Amino acid sequence: MKGIILAGGAGSRLHPVTRAVSKQLLPVYDKPMIYYPLSILMIGGIRDILIISTPSDLPQFRRLLGDGSELGIRLSYAAQPQPNGIAEAFLIGADHVGTDNVALVLGDNIFHGPGFPAQLRRSIAELDGCVLFGYPVRDPSRYGVGEADEKGRLISIEEKPAQPRSNRAITGLYLYDNEVLNIARRIRPSARGELEITDVNRAYLERGTATLIDLGRGFAWLDTGTHDSLIEAGQYVQVLEHRQGIRIACVEEVALSMGYISADDCYTLGAKLGNSRYGEYVMTIARAAGATA
Ligand code: G1P
Repeated sequence: MKGIILAGGAGSRLHPVTRAVSKQLLPVYDKPMIYYPLSILMIGGIRDILIISTPSDLPQFRRLLGDGSELGIRLSYAAQPQPNGIAEAFLIGADHVGTDNVALVLGDNIFHGPGFPAQLRRSIAELDGCVLFGYPVRDPSRYGVGEADEKGRLISIEEKPAQPRSNRAITGLYLYDNEVLNIARRIRPSARGELEITDVNRAYLERGTATLIDLGRGFAWLDTGTHDSLIEAGQYVQVLEHRQGIRIACVEEVALSMGYISADDCYTLGAKLGNSRYGEYVMTIARAAGATA
């Protein structure tokens, strides 16, 4: 399976913070926002990932992450010059996807919960059509909203409905078979001028091959779209990391635990992070895994 991270957009709800810096490069506590969705794809076993952003922001993503070889993955980059919608990722990324299945994740979505890695790997292994992940929210009108039958089949989906039929927001992680490339080519821009991911998902619903998995209570799907939700996401990460002495979405740790890099490679990455506490953590986990340095 290939991966795509969509990290475009003007981040206008966060202005002036995002006037000069891409939203997906802003810190969520101790690491850039994009580490969170990147670590999700890596945990899913996806090692060939396209990062899509605006032409002016792409150089900064490249500077941060390079070609991915240090993490034992392959990263490539492509531009989305205009905010033409999430589904445009499949037009821009068609060559990258080739004949494979694809996981798309939005660069500002944070997922955290016990059991999620296993759930994700199972969904990827058993993929038939598309898999969406639903999360109960207080304000569903801000999101894509879905409903599923008792078997988990998606039975309705609407983008930002004024009168939502359920409180299930459709999160920004989507698994598709290769048919998504044809579907994305066929959909037309919505009233707001965008190629809507909800229209892609509706096409799968009409074929009867869309599954909605419930992330449920106790899971954290965090928003970073406003000044308040951005700092709240950082506080969530800070509280868990302080209490447990772990780091969430530490891409070096994920690469090590997935067997993408050796303990010695991991130690070297930590040492390169200077004297930050994050770097110390990376060196500590590398030593615990047998790094000889
Ligand atoms: C987009 C999608 C929406 C989805 C959301 C998840 O909304 O259109 O269906 O629920 O991402 O983050 P946007 O963030 O573009 O308003």
